[in-house]
Amino acid sequence: MEPLEKETKSKPSVRARADAIKPFRCKNLIAVIENPTDVRNIGTVIRNVNAMGVEKVYVVDVRGDLPDDWQVLRDDKAVSKTSVSAVKWTIVKRFDNTDACFDYLEAKGFVSIVTSPHVKGKTSIYLDEGDYTVHPKLAVWFGSEAIGISDRAVERSAMCVSIPMFGMIESLNLGTSSGIVLYEVAKQRRAYQSRFTWRNQRGERETPLPTVMAPSK
Ligand SMILES: C[S@@+](CC[C@H](N)C(=O)[O-])C[C@H]1O[C@@H](n2cnc3c(N)ncnc32)[C@H](O)[C@@H]1O
Repeated sequence: MEPLEKETKSKPSVRARADAIKPFRCKNLIAVIENPTDVRNIGTVIRNVNAMGVEKVYVVDVRGDLPDDWQVLRDDKAVSKTSVSAVKWTIVKRFDNTDACFDYLEAKGFVSIVTSPHVKGKTSIYLDEGDYTVHPKLAVWFGSEAIGISDRAVERSAMCVSIPMFGMIESLNLGTSSGIVLYEVAKQRRAYQSRFTWRNQRGERETPLPTVMAPSK
């Protein structure tokens, strides 16, 4: 197949999918990863963010591993591979340190919550106990692989959320925990949002859910 023909054939389906999922994107919901050390985890979080309809990913990157320019990051082979190209469809912004990210979020009216397998800060809850629709603009923070969430992030956040652990292992990995937490947070916010956007006054669904994608060959 000639490149041009291929492009003309694939474009309508990509556009149709982008249009179909647009109403279900969670507005004003951001996932923040604090000092991740493994690029594969960054890719996995980006993939989860994209799949859950979370709006953006912010990365606190003290070591300066990531490029400032999102366009450059989109072309990074390792991130693109582990995110299964989700990086092409997801806005990613990097920050030099934790305070810089909090300053930026707070200036825009975002409230932050952190995640940890441990009890941290003044308020600590289990994931299923939370109402994640209370704050119109919400940032959910995930800590680094070895150290976890920083004390500074705990100090500047509204609460700490934990996924209950029932095994001998004390924590989940970054990719897995971001998937579980963002699923719950996005589910709640999408349900809340739907009452005002894709449902009519009687609560009937006006916008059909996007169709399940056929597996790629
Ligand atoms: C591999 S864990 C970090 C483990 C680190 N030793 C610690 O004690 O926090 C990486 C990140 O995944 C998230 N995470 C892992 N397990 C979690 C759990 N049970 N509940 C909530 N978040 C969790 C947190 O954001 C954590 O900072």
